[in-house]
Amino acid sequence: MTPANPTPKPAQPLRILSGVQPSGKLHLGNYFGAVKHHIALQDQGQCFFFIANYHAMTTIQKADALWDNTRDVALDYLALGLDPAKVAFFRQSDVPEVTELAWILSTVTNMGLLERAVSYKDKIDKGIEASVGLFTYPVLMAADILIYRSHRVPVGRDQVQHLEMTRDMAIKFNHAFKEIFPEPQPIVPKEDAMAKVPGTDGQKMSKSYGNTIDIFAEGKPLEKTVMGIKTDSTPMGQPLNPDTCNVYTLYSLFATLEEKEALAADYRAGKIGYGGAKKLLKAKIDGYFAPFREKRKQLALEPASVEDILRDGASRARAEARITMDLVRQVTGLAK
Ligand code: ADP
Ligand code: TRP
Repeated sequence: MTPANPTPKPAQPLRILSGVQPSGKLHLGNYFGAVKHHIALQDQGQCFFFIANYHAMTTIQKADALWDNTRDVALDYLALGLDPAKVAFFRQSDVPEVTELAWILSTVTNMGLLERAVSYKDKIDKGIEASVGLFTYPVLMAADILIYRSHRVPVGRDQVQHLEMTRDMAIKFNHAFKEIFPEPQPIVPKEDAMAKVPGTDGQKMSKSYGNTIDIFAEGKPLEKTVMGIKTDSTPMGQPLNPDTCNVYTLYSLFATLEEKEALAADYRAGKIGYGGAKKLLKAKIDGYFAPFREKRKQLALEPASVEDILRDGASRARAEARITMDLVRQVTGLAK
């Protein structure tokens, strides 16, 4: 007997989706730990990136702040190289179908699953009052991912549990109704890429520690921040250890191998002091980000074209979301 020979399905392009919360100014940690990797993915699949303004409502309850922060993320990503021809780049709320899917998914989600969410438990432990929205945050996130039938989702380590929950919801839905959702997998930055970018005080750079170097800072404020990076008090002319120096670690993010080796040799030979190293770092930051800063300033003067980009992204995303929702409505009995 000849084995059955099913016609192979046409290869689907890899669909990559990610969302970023509009939560303030981007810093070097965000850039090297996340944004840079997001933007690099635009050449590796069919990308959907959105600004998670519905999610941000769990923390921001001022209209101007939500709108302005959302616009800032759009300017940041576009200035840093996101290409709207390659990526459907949009505001989450411009595809309101996602809230319908969130409702439907909530009916196949156990309370216990949501109660185990670490990010929710952390907030409760910190004494933050929980809204229903904060509790069901992972369901909306699952809807974001599943509505575009995404295969890969780049996220920070803190979001991996939300991806597990998304897979759980996809499996439950597929089992209850019909197999329509792929099970999405996270793309997590490698340990060394995440190997935290240090802040000006040597701890992990983070908004919540007030130790950031902002990507779009420049001139005097940037100089003040860089000159304020904490170092030990080895006097000028003495050897320094590059392996334990925050200035050197930050410099390494921008430098070529030769430049890193040259600076390390100068450190060890006592040929350079911390002040000199900080000046080199500031020059590197300026050199790397100067073109992005110019682009951002230019985009900020063209709000209408940024709006056009987001609307165009939303209409591409919405077309996909509608295909999924037609299927979902049929297989659940909401439509025939
Ligand atoms: P913050 O700690 O400033 O609030 P977020 O938690 O909003 O930053 O981080 C957004 C993403 O940026 C994270 O998922 C993580 O991948 C990355 N990131 C943030 N800080 C760092 C850092 N210091 N080093 C490496 N990556 C970082
Ligand atoms: N929860 C994510 C964060 O805080 C943002 C987000 C919302 C997201 N929806 C998403 C990320 C869907 C990936 C996929 O970083």
